[in-house]
Amino acid sequence: MAIISSCTASTLKDAATSLRSGNLVAFPTETVYGLGVDATNKDAVAHLYQVKGRPSDHPLIVHISSMANLDKWAREIPEYAIKLARAFWPGPMTLILPRTNQAMDFITGNQDSVGIRVPSHPLADVLLKDFEELGGLGVAAPSANRFGQVSPTSAQDVEDELSKFLGTKDLILDGGICQVGLESTIIDCTLQMPIILRPGAISKDMVQEATGLEFKSDQTDSQVKASGLLKSHYSPIAKVFLTGNPGIGDGFIALSDIETPEGVIRLAAPKDVTQYAQVLYRALRLADQKRIKKVFVVTPNEGGMSVAINDRLAKAASK
Ligand code: TXA
Ligand code: MG
Repeated sequence: MAIISSCTASTLKDAATSLRSGNLVAFPTETVYGLGVDATNKDAVAHLYQVKGRPSDHPLIVHISSMANLDKWAREIPEYAIKLARAFWPGPMTLILPRTNQAMDFITGNQDSVGIRVPSHPLADVLLKDFEELGGLGVAAPSANRFGQVSPTSAQDVEDELSKFLGTKDLILDGGICQVGLESTIIDCTLQMPIILRPGAISKDMVQEATGLEFKSDQTDSQVKASGLLKSHYSPIAKVFLTGNPGIGDGFIALSDIETPEGVIRLAAPKDVTQYAQVLYRALRLADQKRIKKVFVVTPNEGGMSVAINDRLAKAASK
């Protein structure tokens, strides 16, 4: 495994070639780092599942460089999904759509739907374009962490988490710290109305405004199965508490206007909810690096990213 710390046009081309040859390439996106693989290469996808330690019936998101390639993977795309794609791609949103034959069982976890995303991070954009120029159709990429753990938001996080599992030809592309810090909003677009399966930077209000649809539907109406929806997920080794008071030596995460209780280890003091989302996973990883056993979190409630933050925190806390 090699880490490419300063990506140039030529190293990105090499990375795309490597993907086409069946190797894994971890790359930055605006949400979290993904562990990429050619979405049409069954053996390479099998290697990915092994590195990730993920059950094989859990589906992967296919990343493409633009909406132009959407119909290679998805069919019967509802009008509202087109509106969403136009409004928020490239960006932190994944659409679940009925699949074409191109989206094989090893990508969809045997489901009849496929998850598609056009990321906006400039390195991801160039990598995907180079990959498509080489004849590639899409890059399947889960978050670049071991199954059930916290997603990585820097190349260093990916290295810490996966270096002992990656092969000699696999790559990690360093594109700095992820801007959003939490995974994409996942929207089920297989029914008449959109259903938000995983909250993220694209909020319910934004979806309603872009589609002109007022919808009440929630996750329980959806027919699709998503592992990020498991009750326990996104968990550090430390135990996370959303209520109660920290004691001496415990970890603490809260907005900066909340003071650190005495004797407690402050892991993050974000100034607003956007920054809270950006630093949350880093703070949870820091707790594990410091071998802190308990982390107390004051959840934000200021709108914006709060819904997504509280979703991930509830999952982190229910281990
Ligand atoms: O921001 C993100 O979405 C990141 C970056 C790398 O793009 N990716 C990511 O992938 O979070 P992953 O695999 O860690 O989480 C994707 C979630 C999983 O919960 C998976 O079950 C769900 O998306 N998913 C993917 N395809 C699906 C499908 N066809 N039907 C239902 N759920 C699907
Ligand atoms: Mg994940």
